[in-house]
Amino acid sequence: MSQEAIYLPSPEFVSQANVKGMEGYRALYQQALDDPEKFWGNLAETELHWFQKFDKVLDWSEAPFAKWFVGGKTNVCYNCVDRHLNTDRKNKAAIIFEGEPGDQRVITYQELHRLVSRFANVLKGRGLQAGDRSIIYMPMIPEAAIAMLACARIGVIHSVVFGGFSAEALKTRIQDLNAQVVITADGGWRRAKEVRLKDAVDEAVKDCPSVANVIVYKRTGSAVPMDPHRDHWWHDLDEGVSEDCPAVPLDSEHPLYVLYTSGTTGKPKGILHTTAGYLLQAAMTVKWVFDMKEQDTYWCSADIGWVTGHSYIVYGPLAVGATNIMYEGAPDTPAFDRWWRIIDKYKVSIFYTSPTAIRALIRQGDHWPKAHNLASLRLLGSVGEPINPAAWEWYHSVIGKNRCPIVDTWWQTETGAIMIAPMPGAVPLKPGSGTLPMPGVVPEIVDLKGNPVPDGNEGYMILHKPWPSMLRTLWGDPDRYKEAYWSKLEGIYFTGDAARRDKDGYYWILGRVDDVMNVSGHRLSTMEVESALVRHPHVAEAAVVGKPHEITGQAVCCFVTLKKGVDQKHDELGKELRQWVAHEIGAFARPEEIRFTDVLPKTRSGKIMRRLLREIVTSNTVGGDVTTLEDMSVLTRLASQNDED
Ligand code: WTA
Repeated sequence: MSQEAIYLPSPEFVSQANVKGMEGYRALYQQALDDPEKFWGNLAETELHWFQKFDKVLDWSEAPFAKWFVGGKTNVCYNCVDRHLNTDRKNKAAIIFEGEPGDQRVITYQELHRLVSRFANVLKGRGLQAGDRSIIYMPMIPEAAIAMLACARIGVIHSVVFGGFSAEALKTRIQDLNAQVVITADGGWRRAKEVRLKDAVDEAVKDCPSVANVIVYKRTGSAVPMDPHRDHWWHDLDEGVSEDCPAVPLDSEHPLYVLYTSGTTGKPKGILHTTAGYLLQAAMTVKWVFDMKEQDTYWCSADIGWVTGHSYIVYGPLAVGATNIMYEGAPDTPAFDRWWRIIDKYKVSIFYTSPTAIRALIRQGDHWPKAHNLASLRLLGSVGEPINPAAWEWYHSVIGKNRCPIVDTWWQTETGAIMIAPMPGAVPLKPGSGTLPMPGVVPEIVDLKGNPVPDGNEGYMILHKPWPSMLRTLWGDPDRYKEAYWSKLEGIYFTGDAARRDKDGYYWILGRVDDVMNVSGHRLSTMEVESALVRHPHVAEAAVVGKPHEITGQAVCCFVTLKKGVDQKHDELGKELRQWVAHEIGAFARPEEIRFTDVLPKTRSGKIMRRLLREIVTSNTVGGDVTTLEDMSVLTRLASQNDED
């Protein structure tokens, strides 16, 4: 082992762990490496319920279009809900919900079954059937999970759109999917204000003729206009509906959901996940990485609108019969100790959050967590971006009291499940490293030609083998799927992340190598923000880069040239453009900085030199080779004209 800080799992943790010691980890990893089909086939048989057994584990003959558990029939909702009902879990809490205003609900597995079955019947009553598409645009309330599970129960493909996305972003997703139904709420609570979701839906569906039904859950009780032909209150449709709705046996490869994520163009990618393989790997990683036990109270603070919410609030934890905490609102409402209060109140034992949140909470001071009893915690997790060692140490000592291992989990919307992370009772931790790959995951660090780089050197991270929870394609765009992931190095999955592997085989993720920013752990493409900016009537051209940011990891920084004749004051227009982007994409995309300039630095062939812009925002100095620049003076002007508002 090398000289950096290393944290060994404590003997107490190891003795109770699902995977004990490095031998335990290595044995699993080796089995999966030696015979992946046998490894996953055995797990699929023992860990999932099948209406009909599969006859082939993997069909990779049409690579990169994988088929897992071919010929099998199962149902994700059945696995997450029904099969627990004949066990001691019947009356166990599946979801413990706390609303931002302080309201609480405890939903047992039995109750979840009732609510999901009823809502599945509501959907059927609206004419929906297997293969149809629903959009779920909800606050973080149990009905978001209920809607997802109800869709899965009858084979309706869902697409959850994060409640922070704008009407415009919602519209493009509805249109791309040709969705028949939108499931939403009047609004939700965030920072003691109502986030009005139904208003955004109304604006979005104006241009979405495919949407025949909008189902509205009453959460805030504020007045919302209802279109008598299209809109229905959830509680009205639910009245008198049957509680009997058998889960439909679906093909292993039946599409479960589409989740949009940013790519390198302006158009988001609809990542498609299917049924059996996705669920199996989500469930297994809950056992391996979160070391889940029957008595755990588990809390993942992500929003259900991101993949973390799909795999590690809904599908993975429920598949293994865990108790989930779900919290609706902001961490600082009413005060900065809200999260620590929740952990203390419900005796949370496993807590999973993002480095951005950790850094923001560090800034508020240690007195907030110190005012609460966090002794129930036994394991902590991190996801979404690299965690800097200082934040790691704080999380470990102030929150985990030097007792709780931290699992730093690297994965992507595309991978469906955690790919690189420590098994906490086995793998020694190094702050800032995701440590070692999960069984069945074969990463490598390579150069642009695909040659492995020596340990310790930076390179591109690739994944060698297909895995059960991998994305199957991009919705409606198989060519882009091949192009975006499998063509940089022919036939090999390109993660888009730079990384290095140290001499102990540990992976250190360094960040994206493409034009994708990571703002507060949310993926955002530079192109998406650029196209939003150039839709503004005053903007001629825009170039957007990520700028290092103390709290959010990266912040959005925009270089803008204006159309001739625009003479609005820069500080005013800067404000307007920041608001414009928030309106076009969502508040989380609001630029930190708008810099106005006469011209953008371009190569002779007319390509914007983003590398230079990145250097400008990072250091305000420019080095390297700039001989291809059309106009050197542009650079100096850019660096000095800093019109932040
Ligand atoms: C980054 C979120 C370092 C990475 C689950 C990846 C991370 C992108 C980590 C996927 C981590 C995620 N350490 N970087 N533990 N987790 N990333 O699709 O750049 O929203 O490619 O999935 O986030 O983001 P996505």
